[in-house]
Amino acid sequence: MEFSKDKKTIFSGVQPSGNLTIGNYLGAIKNWQDLQETHNCLYCVVDMHAITVRQDPAELRRRTLGTLAIYIASGIDPEKSIMFVQSHVPAHAELAWVLNCYTMFGELSRMTQFKDKSAKNAQNINAGLFTYPTLMAADILLYGTDLVPVGVDQKQHVELARDIAERFNQIYGDTFVVPEPYIPQTGRKIFSLADPGKKMSKSDENINSFIALLDSRDTIIRKFKRAVTDSDTCVRYAEGKDGINNLMTIYSCFTGKTMDEIEREFDGKGYAEFKLAVGEACADGLEPLQKRYNCLVSDRSYLEGILSNNADHAAYLARKMLSKVYRKVGFLAKNK
Ligand code: TRP
Repeated sequence: MEFSKDKKTIFSGVQPSGNLTIGNYLGAIKNWQDLQETHNCLYCVVDMHAITVRQDPAELRRRTLGTLAIYIASGIDPEKSIMFVQSHVPAHAELAWVLNCYTMFGELSRMTQFKDKSAKNAQNINAGLFTYPTLMAADILLYGTDLVPVGVDQKQHVELARDIAERFNQIYGDTFVVPEPYIPQTGRKIFSLADPGKKMSKSDENINSFIALLDSRDTIIRKFKRAVTDSDTCVRYAEGKDGINNLMTIYSCFTGKTMDEIEREFDGKGYAEFKLAVGEACADGLEPLQKRYNCLVSDRSYLEGILSNNADHAAYLARKMLSKVYRKVGFLAKNK
């Protein structure tokens, strides 16, 4: 696969830190396959970010391969996009160190994800959690990325990557492409089924709060049945109806129907009927992905082959940028 100079470059990543949910899918991965026709795309499994919170090693390995299988099952084509594992390309960690020296303590302290995660992991507020955004900036800046498709919660990190890139360019002259967050119109934020004020999260303790991409049909339907709604009875999209708004968004994503069409479809019908319809639409929508996933994970050597080829390709691109940065900051080149 050759990357074209005329196309813009896209980079995005997902942490292999839990069971991916329909939040990750509808908000991000599902939209990535369209982009690969028009852009040079790199999709990374960011295992180095995942260890900022404690992971079970065997589980992390399993999920890393599983995340790649999900990418492919969602329609990302290994012939068109570079899919790789972050720790396979050492330049990510190397550039992250340099960028740490161009990132201010105050900037990192203001990151809302750091504040949230340190509140949740009070016994393990490690330095990696703090410098997480500089590793993410390295991911992005290594490849001359123009656009970073992310959910709204990651926008602040991409903006920091921009600030770091601009700061570096100002000191050393044009080096990095200044990236932009790209929030696709079709990518929607999906909220917790148990607490629709919160983002749906794969690391939520309450497993009824999220739909994992690999949940069975029965589980999906049961979880939607239990979803928190409100004391109104009418299916309509309105302020203060977070639970129903969220279910309508999910239904709309899986059926392609607009909010108006959904309101008409369920006019005069109760929440129970609506929740069942959402569950069925979601289960139907995920079925082809689950089938493809099951085939892929049983073919470990195929997945490992893709990772190995793609890591080489990514490493080649990354190395060029890293050498440039090393030269600019004044590191002595090693004699060949
Ligand atoms: N921080 C992102 C998240 O938690 C994952 C991520 C790491 C990422 N590096 C990235 C996303 C680079 C986009 C680009 O979801």
